[in-house]
Amino acid sequence: MTLGRCEIFEVGPRDGLQNEAREIPVAEKVVLVDRLSAAGFARIECASFVSPKWVPQMAGSDQVLAGITRAEGVRYAALTPNLRGYEDAVAAGADEIAIFASASEGFSRKNINASIAESFERFAPILEEARHVDMPVRGYVSCVVECPYDGAVAPGAVAAVADRLFAMGCYEISLGDTIGAGTPDSIARMLLAVRDVVPVGRLAGHYHDTNGRAIANIDASLSLGLRVFDAAVGGLGGCPYAPGAAGNVATEAVNAHLTALGYDTGLDQGILEDAAGMARAMRG
Ligand code: HMG
Ligand code: MG
Repeated sequence: MTLGRCEIFEVGPRDGLQNEAREIPVAEKVVLVDRLSAAGFARIECASFVSPKWVPQMAGSDQVLAGITRAEGVRYAALTPNLRGYEDAVAAGADEIAIFASASEGFSRKNINASIAESFERFAPILEEARHVDMPVRGYVSCVVECPYDGAVAPGAVAAVADRLFAMGCYEISLGDTIGAGTPDSIARMLLAVRDVVPVGRLAGHYHDTNGRAIANIDASLSLGLRVFDAAVGGLGGCPYAPGAAGNVATEAVNAHLTALGYDTGLDQGILEDAAGMARAMRG
């Protein structure tokens, strides 16, 4: 008997690779995405149209999107901070867009050089354009438990940003424990606040594994009704503007865990482990 469907949203080729020190050739990224495309994901984030001065590793995202072999049923996603990034992502053939806000002012400033209020001014025209062409837009909220600059973040602050992203038209809100500071208790408190304003079926957990608690935080989230989790193959990652942010929780570990619990992820564990080996070999 299965406990039902649980989806893993693969972010390794974006959130994972963006922080790697070695300049990774586009061809290597393409091979990784192509391997992941065979694993059974519905969505893979593989590009980021941000300033190459800020995140040099993501330059060439247009070539990644052009080089991959698209698998049927997979949506290839791209991160965009502003209208220019959105337009570049659409021109490059992204199937869906992600915008990224922060629940804390300190991280917003360091990550995108804008206050939270200013970031929403940049997002508004993206949502406006996306609506005209039915482009799905996903919204991230960073620092949902703790900020590397401002310290503890109140659940109400997370709920306010999530509510606003959802009201603007984001189809799903991904809640980022950017520096892996969350515990099952603090994640649950945060989710209870967010669940009051955004339907739980539209929430995703995006947990970094800095302190080895991401799987426990996923368990806490499952018990509150979440069924979508972001993960990066091989545990790649971190965020260049969040000191101390280790990798995202590893996709292959999350898949093994969810499957053992009885959830149906639709993913091939053998391919994930193979891709994880590739991802680890790509590290600097
Ligand atoms: P800025 O310096 O305030 O803005 O940066 P600007 O408008 O003055 O632009 C600066 C330069 O960037 C200019 O070039 C622009 O043309 C260019 P210059 O004149 O100096 O040659 N530029 C762009 N280039 C390419 N694509 C664009 C773009 N926009 C402007 N879209 C900006 C503001 C937002 C651009 C910058 O701060 C930035 O790119 N930040 C991105 C930071 C980032 O990518 N962080 C990692 C992703 S977030 C994350 O990982 C967290 C997440 O995983 C969830 C979680 O874990 O919590 C999502
Ligand atoms: Mg992240």
